[in-house]
Amino acid sequence: MLKLINHPLITHKLSLIRRKETGTRDFRQNINEIAGLMAYEITRDLPLREVVIDTPLSSCITSELSGEIILVPVLRAGLGMVDGITSLITTARVGHIGLVRDHETLVPTEYYAKFPSDISGAVVMVLDPMLATGGSASAAIGAVKKRGAVTIRLVCIVGAPEGVTRVEKEHPDVDIYLAALDSHLNENGYIVPGLGDAGDRLFGTV
Ligand code: PRP
Ligand code: URA
Repeated sequence: MLKLINHPLITHKLSLIRRKETGTRDFRQNINEIAGLMAYEITRDLPLREVVIDTPLSSCITSELSGEIILVPVLRAGLGMVDGITSLITTARVGHIGLVRDHETLVPTEYYAKFPSDISGAVVMVLDPMLATGGSASAAIGAVKKRGAVTIRLVCIVGAPEGVTRVEKEHPDVDIYLAALDSHLNENGYIVPGLGDAGDRLFGTV
């Protein structure tokens, strides 16, 4: 199911990263901040367990997160979302998957994968700012499923309808979270209006 996350702070920051004149420093900072704000919404339903703790004044019954969260950024651009989320969820473990899209065919190739042990019981959040044709996201989800992941959330910042349709078809069990659903893909497979090449803008490789 597609869930669009609407928040004035996210909308404002999104406008900033869409601007072509925004440089690497601001682009990076705002991608991270948007990811953190999205994570705040996406983790609303995480289970808690009751614990008894001692404050400086007395003992009390309170709650803490009971499950594990694993982040899986899709290299390169997904890396730009990790710090924004781990600053909120400090115990999250992080797996990595390297995928690169061929510029002509738009088909992704996997060049790296490293995951934490036993991800089957965790909430796995696959991170990539861009959901274009959906080929990379679908491959990344397939890779985490192969390692046993069951509860998977795809977290992208900007998506195209084509990518949403593909992931919904190939992984109907995965919730898709977007900050914006844009108009379409251009003839080169770029999201319009989008924000350009997220990896290049994050890492200054334009
Ligand atoms: C970009 C982006 C996604 C993918 C989206 O990565 O970060 O991973 O394209 O396109 P898709 O939905 O059509 O698969 P790219 O392959 O350019 O690699 P990079 O992050 O290393 O620049
Ligand atoms: N990858 C990007 O970085 N941007 C797009 O618009 C599409 C794929």
